[in-house]
Amino acid sequence: MKLLAIETSCDETAIAIIEAQKVNSKTKFKILGNDISSQIALHTQYGGVFPMMAKREHGKNILSVLENVLKKAKIHKINKNPKIDKKLDEKINILLSRENELNELWPTIMPFIVKPKIDAIAVTTGPGLEPALWVGISFAKALSTYWNIPIVEVNHMEGHIFSIFPKKNKTFIIDSDKKIFPMLSLLVSGGHTELILVKDWMKYKKIGQTRDDAAGEAFDKVARMLGLPYPGGPEISKLAAIGRSNKNSKNPIILPRPMIYSKDYDFSFSGLKTAVLYLIRDLTEKNPNVLDNIKIKQEIAKEFENAVVETLTYKTIKAIKQYKIKTLIVGGGVSANKYLQEVMTNDVKKNKLRTKIYFPSKNLTGDNALMIAIVGYFQYKNRKIVKNIKSIKAKGNLSL
Ligand code: KG4
Ligand code: ZN
Repeated sequence: MKLLAIETSCDETAIAIIEAQKVNSKTKFKILGNDISSQIALHTQYGGVFPMMAKREHGKNILSVLENVLKKAKIHKINKNPKIDKKLDEKINILLSRENELNELWPTIMPFIVKPKIDAIAVTTGPGLEPALWVGISFAKALSTYWNIPIVEVNHMEGHIFSIFPKKNKTFIIDSDKKIFPMLSLLVSGGHTELILVKDWMKYKKIGQTRDDAAGEAFDKVARMLGLPYPGGPEISKLAAIGRSNKNSKNPIILPRPMIYSKDYDFSFSGLKTAVLYLIRDLTEKNPNVLDNIKIKQEIAKEFENAVVETLTYKTIKAIKQYKIKTLIVGGGVSANKYLQEVMTNDVKKNKLRTKIYFPSKNLTGDNALMIAIVGYFQYKNRKIVKNIKSIKAKGNLSL
């Protein structure tokens, strides 16, 4: 079967088309097309993502992303003389009534595309920024109505768990045997920091989460304090790596590791962020130009990254031991962090644990539609097709 997936939960407009075939316990996936239009350059100018701006950009770009993906999948055929169906056009107009940009572009593009052979549409319905999610949802509803294709809903966080499967090849296999359970997933992104116990395929239990800021959010906020552009994670990480290679200073900067020894699996990064704020304030009082000194910035970045990574790793290892975890999956934007990957891998070894660790390939750490397509396929197989598309709503705080 072929499935088209749509992801617009934050600042990436993404669509993917996959083909999936189940043989015994194995499902073979083929990536037919996968495209992302990133809004990062725009949001960098404003220092962060504004939901209404993200929504507008999704609306402007989603049709060209669709065309690109259809072309990549070699199922883009042009209809030179489309028939006019006023009733259908009216339905689409109603479905897209809240999406001005998309509603305007639709009649200039969609009638000229021949309906492709696709069996299902998957769409991210949460968690995320609701105005942004709505663009993908309205678009999925319109496509479903226009082409008469069923819809399945996908949880964005579940997508991040499945993002570790595709590697460099166009094909990959997911084996639904049970040898890999119990599995643990550390999901770390701009909006989430969670430890999820996966007892079996599609069976989740959240055992810990952040009580305030997400890890990625803390990276972004500290980066801003240091005068670094959005998104802050990669910027801090670069400085921190140089900081680690610098000679140790006589007065090292020390930041707290909030909640590291708490009995639960929860996290807290807001106190750490405030500690950096006070540190910079104190340093600036002594020397107003202190942040012109790149070495100080590298030192702060290093200690901040150490604090985040140590906390994430400590709690993850503790959970691996308690739940006798066989497989660890780290996903979400922050899973791109090289230092996190290194420390996590080393600590699993140091603790003599036989847990297998998986990180997504570099292009799949952030938001993408391929991961949504994989979950969408399993939803489809589990007969989770939406009966009435009117019921589909954006769920900003959807949980696993
Ligand atoms: O999953 P994602 O792309 O979007 C959300 O769903 O939030 O995650 C984005 C977050 C941002 O906060 C960004 O700063 C962070 O991931 N990030 C990183 C790195 N690359 C991206 N954080 C730390 N180190 C990185 N290398
Ligand atoms: Zn995400």
